Amino acid sequence: MRQAWISCRVFSAQSALLFAVFFLVQSVPGRSGSLSSYDPQANQLLARMTLEEKIGQMIQAESTGLIKISDIETYYLGSILNSGDADPPSGNTLEYWTEQYESLQKRTQYTRLKIPLLYGVDAVHGHNNVLGAVIFPHNIGLGCTRNPELVREIGRITAREVRATGIQWTFAPCVAVPQDERWGRTYEGFSEDPQLCALLGAAAIRGLQGDDLRSPYSILACAKHYVGDGGTLFGTSEDGRGLDQGDVRVDEETLRRIHLHPYPAAIQAGAATIMPSYSSWNGVKCSANRYLLTKVLKEELGFEGFLISDYNAIHQVHPDFKVAIGICVNAGMDMAMEPNRYREFFVYLKELVEEGTVPMSRIDDAVRRILRVKYAMGLMDKGYSLKANRRLQKEFGSEAHRRVARQAVRESLVLLKNKNQTLPLSKKAARIHVAGRSADNLGNQCGGWTITWQGQSGPVTLNGTTVLTAIRRTVSEQTLVTYSDDGKRAEGADVAVVVIGERPYAEGYGDRENLEISREDKRVIENVKKAGIPIVVVLFSGRPLILGEVLDQADALIAAWLPGTEGQGIADVLFGDYKPTGKLSFSWPKSMDQIPINLGDKPYEPLFEYGYGLTY
Ligand code: BGC
Repeated sequence: MRQAWISCRVFSAQSALLFAVFFLVQSVPGRSGSLSSYDPQANQLLARMTLEEKIGQMIQAESTGLIKISDIETYYLGSILNSGDADPPSGNTLEYWTEQYESLQKRTQYTRLKIPLLYGVDAVHGHNNVLGAVIFPHNIGLGCTRNPELVREIGRITAREVRATGIQWTFAPCVAVPQDERWGRTYEGFSEDPQLCALLGAAAIRGLQGDDLRSPYSILACAKHYVGDGGTLFGTSEDGRGLDQGDVRVDEETLRRIHLHPYPAAIQAGAATIMPSYSSWNGVKCSANRYLLTKVLKEELGFEGFLISDYNAIHQVHPDFKVAIGICVNAGMDMAMEPNRYREFFVYLKELVEEGTVPMSRIDDAVRRILRVKYAMGLMDKGYSLKANRRLQKEFGSEAHRRVARQAVRESLVLLKNKNQTLPLSKKAARIHVAGRSADNLGNQCGGWTITWQGQSGPVTLNGTTVLTAIRRTVSEQTLVTYSDDGKRAEGADVAVVVIGERPYAEGYGDRENLEISREDKRVIENVKKAGIPIVVVLFSGRPLILGEVLDQADALIAAWLPGTEGQGIADVLFGDYKPTGKLSFSWPKSMDQIPINLGDKPYEPLFEYGYGLTY
């Protein structure tokens, strides 16, 4: 059963080799120079700006949080975002997203300097807020592909779909190195292995930003959440019941070896923005940590782009908002994600400068960094179009984009068990029974950060193929495909495919103390078991779950992670059109008391080691 096991040490060596090969063939992005090469232009503009205009550039408000649309010009806002639950007021369509972008962008023309907005969204697995976009597997699945070229291609396509709505910035990739599966954001990370996170994080950045930031098909990437987001201790979240936004209690050597590791690669790949983490390091919020933001990131690692605070993160630093602003800006925060309280931010930061608490040199440094990026993006060019490139809309959610997502799905699947060669299935079987509440459920297949922030079960988006539909499309005309969500009525079928797993969740809400398969899912398998036929289990989850007896009951088991809209990729592997190639990017624990368990731990006796994955 463990023939495909690759020793941790061998695998890490392989990761390193992949890394070297990928970066030797890829030169540093052929942008029209380093970010600081735009300083002459940035400095000239800076010299003409008032304090108010500078502070405005440092603010990112939320489209739905704007008190008045004219605040864009009144406060000289530098940026706007739409977070996971913020749809355009007219509705969630490609056209309305585009119109919203254009109508807000237009407001900058009413300011003296007419500096265009950078507009950001969380396009973390495709342009996932917009109905009809292709939804790619979440990063955990991409980690199992071990395929940086593919991850780069996904970034390239995501950039084109985002640009189709005019938007030029995504808060991605997440280069967290999750160490504890109870964390609800585990799936946002590529791996528990820092090297794999560095390799794939850099590949994603190269795809999103392209060879040149100035290209109308590139968008800004944002490596997040700096630093240690994946290393928080269970029980250190604000409410003490989870780990999201909690505290990382490790020494500096460990912080650097595990959590900082992806950042030099991200910077080398050209990441123009980085988002400091909500979490703390030994009790100090990262957003307030001058050593981490300025000394390490900007001075030691030479990061020339700008830092964008996480959503309302500054408020967590001190109960007095004004004090919090002073601490964060002085620590090195360049732009503030202030969805609703941007007016106060504006007033307080101005006072802080006038009182001498925040030096003018810090404001200039922050604004220079923001302007560098705007120059590098071509936003400051004469004739920069404030309109979206509507020609790109033809390919939005297109078949060509879906083909790449389908490839990503099949490469991300990890075959954990295949007793008696249950897989691949025959397309000519007389009858296949499909069961489980996730078999025909696009929402469960896509997970969190899909149309809404937390995601939702059911037909969450337009277009997409569930596993049930994919199986129906793949089998021969003579094959009968039956379905029951509870696993009953499987008697007489040749084989059952049972699709189970987690319901969608995202940050905070996904923290869980118990990662066992739900009772409801176990019952489905028990029901199918009564039919006495071979069982193939397909598991949707944002992390390894405790399999318990499910592993014994299943004849074959595939970890499918959160594959997104292209369920056909699962049928490709189930029916042997493609052999499974995915390898675990996380160690798979036997029981809850083994968590956290990670590569390099001693003793290291997980159920399935890091790098495990069978094939046919
Ligand atoms: C998350 C970030 C995200 C931001 C904007 C925060 O709650 O931590 O990952 O980019 O919201 O939506």
